[in-house]
Amino acid sequence: MEKVTVSMLLEMKEKGEKITMLTAYDALMAGQMDECGIDMILVGDSVGNVLLGYENTLPVTMEEMIHHSKAVTRSVKRALVVGDMPFMSYQVSVEKALENAGRFLKEARVEAIKLEGGLEVIDKIKAIVEAGIPVIGHLGLTPQSVHQLGGYGIRGTQKDEASKLIEDAKALEKAGAFSIVLEKIPKDLASEVTSTINVPTIGIGAGAGCDGQVLVSQDMLGMFEKFKPKFTKRYAELAKEIKRCFSDYIKEVKDKKFPTEEHSY
Ligand code: KIV
Repeated sequence: MEKVTVSMLLEMKEKGEKITMLTAYDALMAGQMDECGIDMILVGDSVGNVLLGYENTLPVTMEEMIHHSKAVTRSVKRALVVGDMPFMSYQVSVEKALENAGRFLKEARVEAIKLEGGLEVIDKIKAIVEAGIPVIGHLGLTPQSVHQLGGYGIRGTQKDEASKLIEDAKALEKAGAFSIVLEKIPKDLASEVTSTINVPTIGIGAGAGCDGQVLVSQDMLGMFEKFKPKFTKRYAELAKEIKRCFSDYIKEVKDKKFPTEEHSY
């Protein structure tokens, strides 16, 4: 079992081998996907809406991200673990960005960080990379800018926005980002970005032309039922199964059918 490194991921792009990434927020699920051979695990700030009950990712704090990242790194042996910089942990200043990126590595033992944005965050990315911390960029739909973007719609459909996204991707690569997440953009634009830059693109709602794919685990497992984006494929309908188990348990206890002799000392 070879530990996944940044250079392995760059080699995978060169060889045309697809990169797999999923989100995880706890030791149990992170360990399970690691055993299955996932390449990268993202402790996403999506923990806010998926697990913590927030309406969006904006309220997520550094403390919450460190807490969940620690849980993930405790059980992962092979995958490269990436910590997602939460809203306002890097936008304020280069110093603050550097300090918070450092906390992810020092306290939570992740191996890379991810942050959202293009040219507007280049100074932060440069400083973090110069400190020896691998960085993944995130372009297209950037959920931390939900109020500025006016929602979670597809990005990069207009010519000027598409050109800006390509310029942003080039700038991120130049600043030292070793990979870029492309979220909810037209597949042709994602393919163009992928062939323009030398670092791997990881798509979520960006088509099959990206070098890799990422999904939110609770979405692809059918655990998160509030909404289903078009780009999510549900590999199971676990919410239904979980609720069936809870209902069966409640009924069996009420009906005095559980526990039986088998479960008693
Ligand atoms: O927070 C997250 O889960 C993400 C992915 C959607 C890429 O940023």
